[in-house]
Amino acid sequence: MTPSHVPGPVALGDLLGLPGVDARLAGAPAEGVRIIDVTHDSRQAGPGVLFACRPGGRADGHDFAPTAVAAGTPALLVERVIDLDVPQVIVPSVARVLGPIAAHVHADPSGHLKLLGITGTNGKTTTGYLLESVLAAGGHVTGLIGTVETLIAGKATEGIRTTPEASDLQRLLRRMVDAGVTAAAMEVSSHGLALARVSGTRFTAAAFTNLSRDHLDFHPDLEAYEAAKASLFTPGFADLGVVNVDDPTGRKISRQAAAAGLRVVRVSGRGHADAEVHARDITLGPTRSAFTALVRGRPFAVTIHLPGSFNVDNALLALATAEAAGIDPEAAVDGLADVTGVPGRMERIDEGQPFTVLVDYAHTPDSVASILQAARPLTRGRIIIVIGCGGERDRGKRRLMGRQAVALAELAIFTNDNPRGEDPAAILEAVVSGARWVAGARWTVEEDRRAAIGLALDQAEPGDVVVIAGKGHETYQEVGDQRLPFDDRAVARALLTGTNPVAGVTPAGGAR
Ligand SMILES: Nc1ncnc2c1ncn2[C@@H]1O[C@H](COP(=O)(O)OP(=O)(O)O)[C@@H](O)[C@H]1O
Ligand SMILES: [Mg+2]
Repeated sequence: MTPSHVPGPVALGDLLGLPGVDARLAGAPAEGVRIIDVTHDSRQAGPGVLFACRPGGRADGHDFAPTAVAAGTPALLVERVIDLDVPQVIVPSVARVLGPIAAHVHADPSGHLKLLGITGTNGKTTTGYLLESVLAAGGHVTGLIGTVETLIAGKATEGIRTTPEASDLQRLLRRMVDAGVTAAAMEVSSHGLALARVSGTRFTAAAFTNLSRDHLDFHPDLEAYEAAKASLFTPGFADLGVVNVDDPTGRKISRQAAAAGLRVVRVSGRGHADAEVHARDITLGPTRSAFTALVRGRPFAVTIHLPGSFNVDNALLALATAEAAGIDPEAAVDGLADVTGVPGRMERIDEGQPFTVLVDYAHTPDSVASILQAARPLTRGRIIIVIGCGGERDRGKRRLMGRQAVALAELAIFTNDNPRGEDPAAILEAVVSGARWVAGARWTVEEDRRAAIGLALDQAEPGDVVVIAGKGHETYQEVGDQRLPFDDRAVARALLTGTNPVAGVTPAGGAR
């Protein structure tokens, strides 16, 4: 761990001695230079703010150094000397040291609260909400860092991305500590791990949900993706690992983590003999589920108001993680029961229509299968799914998603997700190629997402379930290089009520 100090300016020279920071100084003398913040974004640069020049995929931060210096930045963090008259800290990789340096500048905020990290392919956001509620029930002032929003003591702050950049993350954690937050739940994406965004962060516990195909556009292969997730489960990051051992990768991670000297709590909803925390007597209902959580043999009756067997897994993991982090399981049970929904996750749209409409974020083959299985008990009739795949992302998952959709729903309406710079017709062709494999499959292609949702709602008969998948809480659609206002929930509501002809445009500029 980096040595802690009280919050306040740090001498630039102190940054050179931090563990894991292999640095030397160049440029103007560093004497007397004090740092109060760190940024990689030249728009945030100014007096007291160290500007980190990070080479990125699209732009090289070194090119923005003159702008930062003009804005008053007193020093630079660089990979090569720049011809500017300010002190420069030179390191082999800015990305690698940004976390530890920002953590030091902000006086190691993660060491001053209980921080519970959640990683895995699916379930991070949901488990994050469950954990936050559990922490609150356990008497904590809470924080949440996740895909949908970032909460500081219950108040929403602008959510940047699932796992913020290292310098933004340390500043955010400092804000949390200063606001009196005592415990926080945080989604940790594989990108965040691979790009060292969480370096310099200390987790009280790290939780693993599951691993399946996703993000193969970013990681070279499934092994690299797995390795990124597994890296969180090391003593350098976490005091403790909480791992779903129903998942094969989870079993591997739990063995590796234990071998690396990390204390591991194993969690199983499917009777895995070695687990310390189990779920028994699971009853799944259309809107709520109940089960008995066995924590090292101690039984706790749990009710959750989220449908789907995967949410039993998420709740069990949240309970085990909270318990391991010192929350009384009795309080945890109350916290789990308090969560009545997660934005864009199996979110019900009810305008009094005689069928069920669910908006869900499922955008991997596995999560499409999970939600369709969860939707099945909700109907004696049919499931109609509206689904597409994002452009400029993992291409291999498209046909798999097409296949799952028609295999598990009576009718699929294939449509645009966020096509981005790709030809929507080509994306849809890949989706359809998977559907063709399934005997008796029924599907239609309608590129326009609003029209596709309209088609699904028109086709629905009393008792059916319409699942609108892929975009969940998103309030935009990325087409070409534009971000257009589009919200599946608003569109569905407008179509059901026939009220808003410009459906898809969410009031108040797209923020809900
Ligand atoms: N434990 C789970 N296993 C499989 N699928 C899940 C699980 N939890 C949630 N899902 C599905 O995956 C989608 C994404 O869930 P979310 O909680 O947002 O996870 P993440 O943040 O990891 O993307 C949900 O909409 C749901 O369909
Ligand atoms: Mg998420």
